[in-house]
Amino acid sequence: MRLVITKDYDEMTEWSARYIKKRIIDFKPGPNHYFVLGLPTGSTPLGIYKKLVKFVKTKELSFKYVITFNMDEYVGLPRDHPESYHSYMWNNFFKHIDIEPNNVHILDGNATDLVHECNEFERAIKESGGIELFVGGIGPDGHIAFNEPGSSLVSRTRVKTLAQDTIIANARFFDNDITKVPTSALTVGVGTVMDAREVLILISGTSKAYALHMAIEEGVNHMWTVSAFQNHSRFLCVCDEDATMELKVKTVRYFKGLMSVHSQLINGNDHSSLLHTEN
Ligand code: PGA
Repeated sequence: MRLVITKDYDEMTEWSARYIKKRIIDFKPGPNHYFVLGLPTGSTPLGIYKKLVKFVKTKELSFKYVITFNMDEYVGLPRDHPESYHSYMWNNFFKHIDIEPNNVHILDGNATDLVHECNEFERAIKESGGIELFVGGIGPDGHIAFNEPGSSLVSRTRVKTLAQDTIIANARFFDNDITKVPTSALTVGVGTVMDAREVLILISGTSKAYALHMAIEEGVNHMWTVSAFQNHSRFLCVCDEDATMELKVKTVRYFKGLMSVHSQLINGNDHSSLLHTEN
């Protein structure tokens, strides 16, 4: 695992956006060589999307040969509802960049056959060659996508009932009215994310500090589904200082000491050899 500790939210999203940009550029995507990117929603990645849009506008980055798969979508919320993840992704990201709409994959929470929809999503990921980089955030209970505490750590894309904590946390997007929050969602499984060749998780703020501790300092545990990535060979976690409040001092010191190695990941020449060190 790599843990990159940044000063604050802004620096965390700057570092992560530059990392994603460099990974895509170094991959040299083309018509027969698409970069396949897994993407999250939520408040945490907003700063990254803003910065990636800027890179596209300044022609430093193109999404022409990028295929995306989103982590999840609410069940039963109209696609054009302002809080659907379709709306979120198009409004915050896709409509501002040069991606081909056909290369965007977001689960349809209104499909008549939800199981078929989930199975097709898994098939499409396989058909694309598999996800090169899966970007995600976590909930304060350590969930990844909508893989709530107790989810199978080898789960695939499926329907999940949301935990009460998640419904309460997400009520802020629904006029603070928990009765308006959908109670189920379609979500990639922990196993789906584990299959990606690299996983990048963003963790910001004191409300996620205990989850970060459980994610990296305790054992793999299905009650903290993000901890499954301890078994991933390329797990990169980027957090801010506030999120480190529950970590041991020696953990923080160790990873801060690696910052000069980590900064090579976003600077300089092709870093593909570095990807296999320090994990
Ligand atoms: P947040 O949500 O980025 O809005 O905190 C993340 C999540 O619940 O997965």
